[in-house]
Amino acid sequence: MTSPVLDLAGIGIGPFHLSLAAHLDSIPSAGVCFFDDKPAFDWHPGMMLEGVELQTSFMKDLVTATLPTSPWSFASYLVSQKRFYEFLNADFDAIPRREFARYLSWVAAGLDNLRFGRSVREVRFKEGAFHVRFDDETRFARNLSLGVGLKPNIPDWGQVVQGETCFHTSQAAYRLGGLKGRRIVVIGGGQSGAEIMQHLLSQPEAADQSIAWISRRQNFQTLDDSPFTDEFFTPQYVERFHALPRSRKQPTVAQQKLAGDGISASTLRAIYQKSYALRHLSGKEHDLAFLPHREVLDLRHEGGEFRLVMRNGFDGSVEMVSADAVVLATGYVFTVPDFLAPLGERLDLDERGLYQLREDFSVEWDGPAAARIFALNAGRHSHGIAEPQLSLMAWRSAVIVNALLGREHFDLALRPSAVKWVGDSAEALSRMAQGSAL
Ligand SMILES: Cc1cc2nc3c(=O)[nH]c(=O)nc-3n(C[C@H](O)[C@H](O)[C@H](O)COP(=O)(O)OP(=O)(O)OC[C@H]3O[C@@H](n4cnc5c(N)ncnc54)[C@H](O)[C@@H]3O)c2cc1C
Ligand SMILES: NC(=O)c1ccc[n+]([C@@H]2O[C@H](COP(=O)([O-])OP(=O)(O)OC[C@H]3O[C@@H](n4cnc5c(N)ncnc54)[C@H](OP(=O)(O)O)[C@@H]3O)[C@@H](O)[C@H]2O)c1
Repeated sequence: MTSPVLDLAGIGIGPFHLSLAAHLDSIPSAGVCFFDDKPAFDWHPGMMLEGVELQTSFMKDLVTATLPTSPWSFASYLVSQKRFYEFLNADFDAIPRREFARYLSWVAAGLDNLRFGRSVREVRFKEGAFHVRFDDETRFARNLSLGVGLKPNIPDWGQVVQGETCFHTSQAAYRLGGLKGRRIVVIGGGQSGAEIMQHLLSQPEAADQSIAWISRRQNFQTLDDSPFTDEFFTPQYVERFHALPRSRKQPTVAQQKLAGDGISASTLRAIYQKSYALRHLSGKEHDLAFLPHREVLDLRHEGGEFRLVMRNGFDGSVEMVSADAVVLATGYVFTVPDFLAPLGERLDLDERGLYQLREDFSVEWDGPAAARIFALNAGRHSHGIAEPQLSLMAWRSAVIVNALLGREHFDLALRPSAVKWVGDSAEALSRMAQGSAL
């Protein structure tokens, strides 16, 4: 081995590893390095459309929840940019996503434990260390952290037709400009689909264009970010969720879909209002269709156009629609990265091919206990719906740092929540009963 053995090698630098790197930056003795294949930090650039907003409070930044004195907070960023007061005066209900992306890039530029333009090709475990191989070198680490994000979900029917006029939303910012004047179908009733619709309806040519939006959900459904639902995005809830038997976790996550994957009410309102203006105020006959409760079954390119077959979940019929272009707003999926292939059977995956994650976000595997593999954004099934979201990234980073150091470096104790998810309600009720008897 030539280069020093790192305490931790992190693969991928999205917001989640950026948060972990920012926490580790406060511990000078930690030998850590994070690697990303992009030339520089860039947060979902393919979806950076005009006017898009963050769905999360800016207080839930990379560090504030666990390390409020960190120089890498959103407030520090505002001060460094000399626009603290102006930002507050702007009084955003939801801040522009571009602003949060700039904050993330500012942190990435300031941390010295990050390396960009480094694509990890393979990870092996030999002689008590992970061997992380790039094209031109190999780095060694006692622990590994995986922060490679999710992959675009392309349904089987979408695989063969992808190209300039049929693409996933992760390519939208590069390709939408080429679709002017075409008949466009957007498939997918989540926030990405909604943002594509908002964008298309905002273009000057929208009044002359045919646009259809398909959602498999019963309707174009709003994000539930009401106070009690937001309790799902607390450490106390995640700890309780992790302790549930596996059989209970999947149905719970399915029921909570709109708490994480619903559409911001502001986006839905903007779409409806633009639709109103186009239909009634533009002075033109407009060809705009909202198609809720449709599951796309097949998509073909025939006779110079795309032909979609859908099942209408409302009345059970099968319907067809034709278009010149298709945007796949069909979300993202977890996959075990190819570079882990050499570890193969040593990873303990469940029957769906998902990691078995311990409470501290380390993966069950048959290597030595001291050689941990942490995985972020890979545990919706184990830690609940907060896992792919920004909300708890600072807390998760602190949990991982504590696990790595083997001590409570970050004090993560919280006051018990008033919401009692499990049996401690008995204790609370008995306390109340005693209180009322006094
Ligand atoms: C458009 C969009 C907006 C979102 N907005 C919000 C929001 O407002 N609020 C919220 O809570 N959640 C939001 N999310 C969900 C979630 O917060 C983001 O997807 C977030 O970026 C996930 O962070 P990550 O670090 O896991 O992955 P990513 O941001 O995807 O980063 C992973 C990184 O790993 C790199 N990588 C992959 N493979 C390798 C390799 N072999 N070698 C080196 N590097 C590699 C990739 O290039 C990438 O840079 C949004 C998601 C999307 C798609
Ligand atoms: N501004 C922001 O903050 C922002 C922007 C974009 C994304 N995000 C976040 O990123 C995450 C991913 O969002 P996303 O919108 O990309 O994905 P998503 O929420 O998973 O939505 C994907 C949509 O595609 C639908 N779909 C899949 N296959 C289909 C088929 N065969 N026919 C019809 N519809 C089909 C899904 O239907 P089902 O629901 O029935 O499965 C779902 O409505 C979410 O957490 C979201 O909140 C945030």
